[in-house]
Amino acid sequence: MLYRKHITTIEVQILDDGKAIADGERRQLSVLFCDLVDATMLSGQVDPEVYREVLRAYHFTCAEVIHRFNGFIAQHLGDALLVYFGYPQTHEDEAQRAIFVGLGMLEAVQTLNAHLQQEKGIRLAIRVGIHTGLTVIGDIGEGAKHEVLALGEAPNIASRIQGVAAPDTVAISADTYRLVQDYFKVEDLGFHTLKGVAAPTKVYRVLQKRDTQSRLKIASARGLMPLVGREQEVELLLERWEQVKTGQGQVVLLSGEGGIGKSRLVQEFKEQITDQKQVRFECRSSPYFQNSALYPVIELWEQVCAFAEDASEKFNNLEQLLRQDVPAIEETARSSPAQLSPPIAEERYPTLAMSSQRQRQETLETIAATLLKQAQQHPVLFILEDLQWTDPSTIELLHLLIDQTSTAAFCLLLTCRPTFQAPWGLPKHLSPIALNRLSPNQIKRMAERVAGDKSLPAAVLQQIVEKTDGVPLFVEETTKAVVESDVLEEQDRHYELTGSFSALAIPATLNDSLMSRLDRLGSAKDIAQLGAVIGRDFSYEVLHAIAKSDEKTLQRELNRLVEAELLYQKGLPPGATYTFKHALIQDAAYQSLLKSTRQQYHRGAAQVLETQFPGRVVSKPELLAHHYTEAGLPERAIDYWQKAGEHAIRRSANVEAISHLNKGLSLFKMLPDTSQHARRKLDLLTTLGPALIAVKGYVAKEVEMIYAQAHKLCQRVGDAPQRYQVLRGLWGRTGAD
Ligand SMILES: Nc1ncnc2c1ncn2[C@@H]1O[C@H](COP(=O)(O)OP(=O)(O)O)[C@@H](O)[C@H]1O
Ligand SMILES: [Mg+2]
Repeated sequence: MLYRKHITTIEVQILDDGKAIADGERRQLSVLFCDLVDATMLSGQVDPEVYREVLRAYHFTCAEVIHRFNGFIAQHLGDALLVYFGYPQTHEDEAQRAIFVGLGMLEAVQTLNAHLQQEKGIRLAIRVGIHTGLTVIGDIGEGAKHEVLALGEAPNIASRIQGVAAPDTVAISADTYRLVQDYFKVEDLGFHTLKGVAAPTKVYRVLQKRDTQSRLKIASARGLMPLVGREQEVELLLERWEQVKTGQGQVVLLSGEGGIGKSRLVQEFKEQITDQKQVRFECRSSPYFQNSALYPVIELWEQVCAFAEDASEKFNNLEQLLRQDVPAIEETARSSPAQLSPPIAEERYPTLAMSSQRQRQETLETIAATLLKQAQQHPVLFILEDLQWTDPSTIELLHLLIDQTSTAAFCLLLTCRPTFQAPWGLPKHLSPIALNRLSPNQIKRMAERVAGDKSLPAAVLQQIVEKTDGVPLFVEETTKAVVESDVLEEQDRHYELTGSFSALAIPATLNDSLMSRLDRLGSAKDIAQLGAVIGRDFSYEVLHAIAKSDEKTLQRELNRLVEAELLYQKGLPPGATYTFKHALIQDAAYQSLLKSTRQQYHRGAAQVLETQFPGRVVSKPELLAHHYTEAGLPERAIDYWQKAGEHAIRRSANVEAISHLNKGLSLFKMLPDTSQHARRKLDLLTTLGPALIAVKGYVAKEVEMIYAQAHKLCQRVGDAPQRYQVLRGLWGRTGAD
């Protein structure tokens, strides 16, 4: 119980599966803290040896649940457990995983209690607390004494939340709740003041999982927004359906990255044909059950037999269904339930005299036949979503169905991410549809719909277009986050900026899904992070000059990034250039770097550009200015912002010039107030003046302010060569007034 004090700085033993992060990383973690209730009392009641045995059993039980959901046990010390979700590898849904583990542990401890009570007269109770927040995580120490240090408030808050939980319950913070609210039923436990946390925190008790499974189902429960775009795709689906109705079976494979709108399109199609006669089967694969044979089909049977509560009744229904539909193959029908529900099948049927391979084959054929049989009465629409997570047996079943449906009134509508490799080639009756990103106009339309049909400031809309790259999920989450933030204020018909607006932050709801894409890359992630510092576009030459890896490694890692579709590549190394496919992925990679590492990379980038690529410095001084600013070298940065301003003015790009020069001016607050710096500032102001006049006119308030400021500086430095120009600026204004 060491933990109760200062978890934030506890050094944690790294486990074998933990990847060492030598330099540390900034990571959003969902942290689970679990503790035994009244452990001290218990340890006083029983013999220490018995107590040890009990603890071991408890740890073992919990560890089993934790590993199932890929949690990382950072520490088990005595009777407490600290678990990270989002390290060393992020999955798309870490907060949900943490809660599944919390609920799973409660259940597992109950099971353990049954034994403990019988054998030792002991009953354990646990409390679980979960919180999601930013941490800096990394290892320290050398060799075998590797240790991971997780810093930040998150672990501390998780442990405090645990203290709020009643025995045998899971409590979560408001930040975690926000990420999972649609997936779990909770009870509001009100505000609590947690030790070491300034503001009172809202705490929720998790009651149970909701049965809605997919993101889209949840969105539909709230009322879906009208579909934006996708007219051609809907048209194509409807055409294929017409063919199906005439007995020409069709397979449609919708592919596209997560959040591009596959499920939404399927939904639209379903709605458009609701009034037509059909038999519809819908199922989806799950990332948690990628290796559970026939998982989606079993779920489907569950739905078909849903009216039955207990397992044996379900089994009866299934038997009936199979018999009724495929009377001719009753023998094999027996093997099918056997695979789907082994314990009951064993009770009712003698073991079949066939190899398990054969039995499996027959099962698949039975299922296929059952489904096909339906098509004799009405056209069948069979939907299976998320093939990238589908188990091999189900894939085999699909293969069978694809082979057998070309002459049946059967439509197979499948969705997958681009990583899925279809094993069935390209049969004639298969139409692949790749979903593309939305256009800037469609993005804007969507964003305003998400904002409740209120218009958004142009600068915000522009950023949404740039950051989300037309992925509808990103548009939704980014817009929701900005509308709920204090950047905007809601008016009758529109949203207004409350202050100045620079950049959109990554919404917490997208953090895990973005990080998971990076984490999957292993060592290539370092290159992605370095690239992210250089910019959304970067050339092989510059990357190579900054990266420490040798050419062979570098090219291999870059290839992995291109294959994983994180980067687009143009040309071949050494002439190649790369572009991050998503601005948000670039942001996520960048933000996962420690601030000190970022600075170091920026410095490297600036120096390499300056010494090895003088041409680029001349044509794009703002690039150097940016790197020096972020490297924390304001003096050098100011020189380049000045150059960038002048460069832009020469091309009459006054708006850009104003932006560059203002950036330079903002850096003076980091410098001591010397007369040398005053001269530099005067240079920037007197370059800025004419550009401002060109854009805003003589009478603008900003112009007056700039010249007044310049005038003061002139007086201070005495012999400034710009004095005449400044006075003219001031008089010119006065004359025009
Ligand atoms: N064309 C569209 N118009 C409006 N909303 C969309 C569109 N495409 C997707 N969405 C919304 O974006 C989110 C992600 O879409 P979804 O279909 O779940 O993506 P996928 O299945 O490809 O992962 C959903 O909330 C969905 O309603
Ligand atoms: Mg989907």
